[in-house]
Amino acid sequence: MVKAVVLGAAGGIGQPLSLLLKINPDVTELSLYDIVNAPGVAVDLSHIATPAKVEGFLPPPKDSQTTPNEGLRKALAGADLIVIPAGVPRKPGEANAVFTTLHSDDLFKINAGIVRDLATAIATTAPKAFVLVISNPVNSTVPIVAEVFKNHNVFDPKRLFGVTTLDVVRASTFVAEVLGDRSLSSSITVPVVGGHSGVTIVPLLSQSSHRLPEGLDTSTVDSLVNRIQSGGDEVVKAKDGAGSATLSMAYAGAEFAVKIIRAIKGERGIIVPSYVNLAADQEGGAALRKDLGKDLDYFSSPVELGPNGVESIKGLGTITPSERALVNAALPDLISNIDKGVSFIQGPK
Ligand code: NAD
Ligand code: LMR
Repeated sequence: MVKAVVLGAAGGIGQPLSLLLKINPDVTELSLYDIVNAPGVAVDLSHIATPAKVEGFLPPPKDSQTTPNEGLRKALAGADLIVIPAGVPRKPGEANAVFTTLHSDDLFKINAGIVRDLATAIATTAPKAFVLVISNPVNSTVPIVAEVFKNHNVFDPKRLFGVTTLDVVRASTFVAEVLGDRSLSSSITVPVVGGHSGVTIVPLLSQSSHRLPEGLDTSTVDSLVNRIQSGGDEVVKAKDGAGSATLSMAYAGAEFAVKIIRAIKGERGIIVPSYVNLAADQEGGAALRKDLGKDLDYFSSPVELGPNGVESIKGLGTITPSERALVNAALPDLISNIDKGVSFIQGPK
């Protein structure tokens, strides 16, 4: 019995993600919450002949006397797994641009406030659930959830995940393209570490399950790294004002959710990159901090999943000098993104 909840379920990511969760036979209950249209999406999905019972919830109307957000609380009650794609996406840096970068202050403030409020409801309604954060900027929204949970004394770092799977999915696809064989893409695995934006995205190509050809020129490798780091920009530009990645993100979010569900159900040995609080594994976290030479609290690295969430943080393994340079280049941005998230809840240091 697995109850999955999607917060932001009527959006560009939320709808296809909810569809993918509805067709997962392990999901027995699926609750959809959004500030618009969630009941409609739920009724639509409920006609699909798979086991999950689907319900949709909205906030109470503005003039209602109902106590604060009963819809959200009903959606969250008894949740095992909560996925959060609620928030605004980025727009391209052309005319009519609103948010040109993942770290624009306006985008940050809107999404940070949305995630803070949803995290508060989770802390008081479903504090034991696994929480998967998709809303951007992930490097800061995950610390926001953690700080809200800490304020409510319910923070379990093993159960909070920043979803960086889209970077992993893109790395597989783009490596297959360089290898000239797209049929390989679903079997290629490339760990992507660091965080989820720009230079904080660090693909470890030397650890790809399928080796790049010996002697591949540096500029091809550099372009591949750059394409993985700026995959989000590629989609934002192509959508030309209509938002950012939604379908590939829904695919990636569902991939990650499925791994969590398999771990909840007792499967062992599942290792996936995710952006986690390093306190999730004291020993592995300390080793990773030592390797990074920085005392930071969050980093995306391969983690082993178990029925209680993060079992261990695997760290970077053996990396090449050029990958080390990319990791070092990621750290300043990552540290400032983490601080920004923490300060949003706790106030400036
Ligand atoms: P969207 O605008 O299509 O959908 C967002 C949904 O969130 C909307 O339906 C909106 O009504 C809902 N929403 C807003 N405030 C809410 C609240 N308080 N409670 C519940 N729902 C609320 O946007 P999208 O394209 O689906 O993107 C959503 C977020 O995901 C953005 O922040 C985007 O940057 C991020 N994203 C992350 C990744 C990643 O790899 N982690 C990839 C793509 C997009
Ligand atoms: C992505 O990687 O596609 C997302 O984070 C969305 C974005 O704005 O880049």
